[in-house]
Amino acid sequence: DLNDRRIALFENVYPVPRGVSYNSYLLLDEKTALFDTIDQAFTHQLLENVSSVLDGRSLDYLIVNHMEPDHCASIADILFRYPGVKIVCTAKAANMMKQFFEFDVDQYVVPVKEGDTLSLGVHTLTFVMAPMVHWPEVMVTYETTEKILFSADAFGSFGAIDGNIFADETDYKNQWLPEARRYYCNIVGKYGPQVQALLKKASGLEISMICPLHSLVWRKDLDWLLEKYSRWSSYEPEEKTVLIAYASVYGHTEQAADAIAARLAERGVPNIAVYDVSKTHPSYILADAFRCSALVFASITYNNGIFCNMETLLHQIAAHNLQNRTVAFLENGSWAPVSVKHMTDTFASLKNMKVLEESLTIRSSLKNCQGDCLEALVDSIFQSLA
Ligand code: FEO
Repeated sequence: DLNDRRIALFENVYPVPRGVSYNSYLLLDEKTALFDTIDQAFTHQLLENVSSVLDGRSLDYLIVNHMEPDHCASIADILFRYPGVKIVCTAKAANMMKQFFEFDVDQYVVPVKEGDTLSLGVHTLTFVMAPMVHWPEVMVTYETTEKILFSADAFGSFGAIDGNIFADETDYKNQWLPEARRYYCNIVGKYGPQVQALLKKASGLEISMICPLHSLVWRKDLDWLLEKYSRWSSYEPEEKTVLIAYASVYGHTEQAADAIAARLAERGVPNIAVYDVSKTHPSYILADAFRCSALVFASITYNNGIFCNMETLLHQIAAHNLQNRTVAFLENGSWAPVSVKHMTDTFASLKNMKVLEESLTIRSSLKNCQGDCLEALVDSIFQSLA
C-alpha cells in the first residue's frame, strides 16, 4: 500500500483528514501478477516496490480490476518497465484504457468475462464482474487456492494505513468504521443494487481474505463487514436513532434543532447526531444519514428557497438514492418561509421515505407558544423509532 497523507480532498471533493491509501497487490507463483496499479503521484514508489518484490523476475500479468485513475494511472509506466506483461481486464476496461492512454491497448490486453479463469501455477484466478461497483468496467478477482477476494473499491475506506495492514490489528469499530461508512456511502452508495448483486455472488464463494484497493485487508470477522455492506447497500439504517441537520445564520434555527435533540435525548434516544450544514462537509452528514433511521432537516429560507449548504446536502442525499427513512422538515422565515416545500420536493423521487406530517414553521425564532407543536413533532419522530 502507498499512503497519501498530504491529500486534502479525495476525488477533489471529499475531505480526508487521515489521508487515503492506494493498494496494489503482487502475487508470486510460477507466473507473477500485479493487481491494479496506483495514483500517478505514487508511480515511482510503486515501480520501486514491485521491482524489489519481484527481485529480478519479470512481471507476467497486470490484473486491472478498475480503471479509475487512483488505481490505473501507472499502467503505462508498468508497460514501459515490463514490456512483456499481459493486461487482464474486462472489454469495457480495455475501452477505457484507450480513452485514458495512447499506447496500443489491444497488443497487451487479454479480455476476460464472468467466470473466466487464469492459472498462475499453484494459484488460480477467477474473474467476477462487478459493474457499477463503482464504475461500469469493474470486476473483482477471486483467487481460489488461498480464497482471496481482490475486491476493487468495495470494502475500502478513507484513511491512510498506519503500519498495521490488517483490520483485525486495529480498533476498527471505533477508529475506522465512521470513515469506512463515509467512503462507502459517498463513493458507492448510489449503486446499492449493484453492490447487492456482488454480495450475492460473494456469498457463493468461500472467502478467507478481502483485499480492497483502499485501506485495510480483512482476514477475520468477514461476516461483520459483509453485514455492514448488506445493510448499507439495501439502504437499511444501522441504528434506530435520529440525525438532525440544520442551516442557521443567527442561531434561531440552530436553537430549534438543539431543542428537538434534547427532547429526543430525554425520551432515551441514544447516539443522536446534530450537524450544522455550514460547518460540516456533506459527506459526513450523508454517511450518518445512512446510519440513522430518522432524519430531521431544519433550514432557514434563503433567496426564496433552501439555504445553500442545506440544498447541497439534500441534493447529495437524493443523488445517493437514500431510502427507507422517516423524515421531518422544519423551516424558518422572517417574512416568507418556503424551505419545507422545497426540501420536500428535493426528496420526492426517493423511495420509501416517510415524511412526517408534523413539520414546524418558525418565524424568526422559536416562540414559547410553539411548545405543543414542537412536542408533537418530537413525539412523531420518537414513535418512528419504535
Ligand atoms: Fe478508488 Fe473508483 O476508485
